[in-house]
Amino acid sequence: MERKNHTLHVFRDGRENFGEFKDSSNLLEYINNHTPFSLPAPCAGKGRCGKCRITVSSGEVTPLTEEEKKILSEKEIARGVRLACMTRPLSDIVLVMDGEKAGVGNKSAVITEKMEVHPFLHKDLYTLNGPHLHDQISDHSRMLSVAGTPVRHIPLSVLRQVPGALREGGYTITVCRDGDTALAVEPGDTREQCYGVAVDIGTTTVASYLIDLTTGKNLDVISALNAQEIYGADVISRINHTMTDADGLKKLQEKIIDQIDYMVRILADRNQINRERIYTVVIAGNTTMVHLVLGLPPKNIAAAPFISVTTEALTVPAGGLSLSIAPGGTVYTLPGVSGYVGADIVAAVLASGMAESGPLSLLIDIGTNGEIVLGNRDRLVCCSTAAGPAFEGAQIRNGVGGIAGAVNKVRMQDGIISFTTIQNTRPLGICGSGIVDLLSILIGYHIVEESGRMLSRGEAPEKTPKDLLDGMTTLDGEPAFLLVPEEGTDLGSPILLTQKDVREIQLAKAAIAAGIDTLVKKIGINLEDIEVLYLAGGFGSYLHKASAVAIGLLPWELHDRVHTLGNAAGKGAAMALLSLRAREKCEAIRRKAEYIELSSSPEFQDAYIERMFFSQENTKTHNIF
Ligand code: FES
Repeated sequence: MERKNHTLHVFRDGRENFGEFKDSSNLLEYINNHTPFSLPAPCAGKGRCGKCRITVSSGEVTPLTEEEKKILSEKEIARGVRLACMTRPLSDIVLVMDGEKAGVGNKSAVITEKMEVHPFLHKDLYTLNGPHLHDQISDHSRMLSVAGTPVRHIPLSVLRQVPGALREGGYTITVCRDGDTALAVEPGDTREQCYGVAVDIGTTTVASYLIDLTTGKNLDVISALNAQEIYGADVISRINHTMTDADGLKKLQEKIIDQIDYMVRILADRNQINRERIYTVVIAGNTTMVHLVLGLPPKNIAAAPFISVTTEALTVPAGGLSLSIAPGGTVYTLPGVSGYVGADIVAAVLASGMAESGPLSLLIDIGTNGEIVLGNRDRLVCCSTAAGPAFEGAQIRNGVGGIAGAVNKVRMQDGIISFTTIQNTRPLGICGSGIVDLLSILIGYHIVEESGRMLSRGEAPEKTPKDLLDGMTTLDGEPAFLLVPEEGTDLGSPILLTQKDVREIQLAKAAIAAGIDTLVKKIGINLEDIEVLYLAGGFGSYLHKASAVAIGLLPWELHDRVHTLGNAAGKGAAMALLSLRAREKCEAIRRKAEYIELSSSPEFQDAYIERMFFSQENTKTHNIF
């Protein structure tokens, strides 16, 4: 039977998107593939996690499924709440998405540190003589002939504003310019309204910071899961999508541009700012993310010799990327070092200040990859480890990112194991910091051996606390540790750490630790010579240092020198938004950075094998438990 097409109107935070529902796919697939919005789907659309809740406010849909009856409360059902993965429309429908659950904009921490303001944008106020019958020069020429104006170029997009602005302002206007190019011509005096947005495009999370360009203050921030997530969790899957789908690159570019544009709109709306007073957007991100936002083919980054189209800083018109800011507004992408040490790392190095200081520092950003930089003002060496996204919860049986319901802390006290979840909601899975905590406990109690082998319950050491003993179980004939029983979650299955998970973490931690060893060797120092260890990125902020040292992810020698930077890439992008000098520093970092390719480094291979082991000594030395 031929299925009828229906029109779907999707609302989120007052924003509407509509389209025609053409096939038999469910609402989850429709939203993630045909709208700029995205819904999380940790259970892959099986109706188990409950994370894809939407509200059908009008229209007819397929009946409630058994899965939905198990997950949704009576009150929710009465309100029209459904699981998008279980629902298909039977008529034209209107549905509403909960902004926060949809990952469209959680309020994160603003940057509170003072940032240097060394502007490259200027706003000048002019009062011009109006035209009359004996003065018939064009508006354009009138603008260019104003005494003292440095403006020499008025792009077409700005020229379109000129007649209206001149007349509306009674020939008193404010011109925003970058050097001798006008970015906007506005009626009246708008000199105090000068804003920019710094964006950090992570493979997993996108964060956008609204900055007042006159005061240097970070007014607001918004973060969300990268909307490209539906095309794969890591950069390689996204690159593959650009190669296997003829429109793949276009789709990925549209997803991220749409997401940034939406974030800019939310930031402007909730701060009551006219988005035409936002003149520039500065973007940091790994090299693949920067390629995708610019629509550059990232294909050659994926395979040796890993060549990017560009790692140069670029300034492009915002209109050319379909970002709605000031008519002549620009987008500036920070420079990167290589295909796998991108603009986000340059921004993080900038934010840390390590490239300007004398003492040696080590910067580690553990995200979808693990990037490491070692050095000081004289020399910088860097590398990227294929650590994989294990610490972001990918490739881990019950792994999830840093979402509400993720187990983020596991503790063992007086023989009792306890955990917390993000936002204190019912557990949904376990994120990186929780995995590292749990593994460090299992190593400390000899349930995971130094080789990484997990013991079966029959092999448990004599004094194993009852709580741990009770958790020792099996999955498909392999040892596993039960953290949350089935009845404690909405998943429909328990939360476990399996032997396979331990192997994944073992590979990832060995890659990071061996990357550090390789850089240390390259520069010819000892670990003890490093004065500060900067941890960048979201995972670094939540990681418990003692647990990270206990599993051998961070070197014991630096356990008391760890400094958490938070979203250093976002802060670096904000700095580059505010200051020309900061942009010059980024260029200097990029020129100075020596990239070490680990896949061809024998030192790395040796260190990798050595670092594969766990050390029970580390867990005791730190008196963690
Ligand atoms: S994706 Fe719909 S319930 Fe998990």
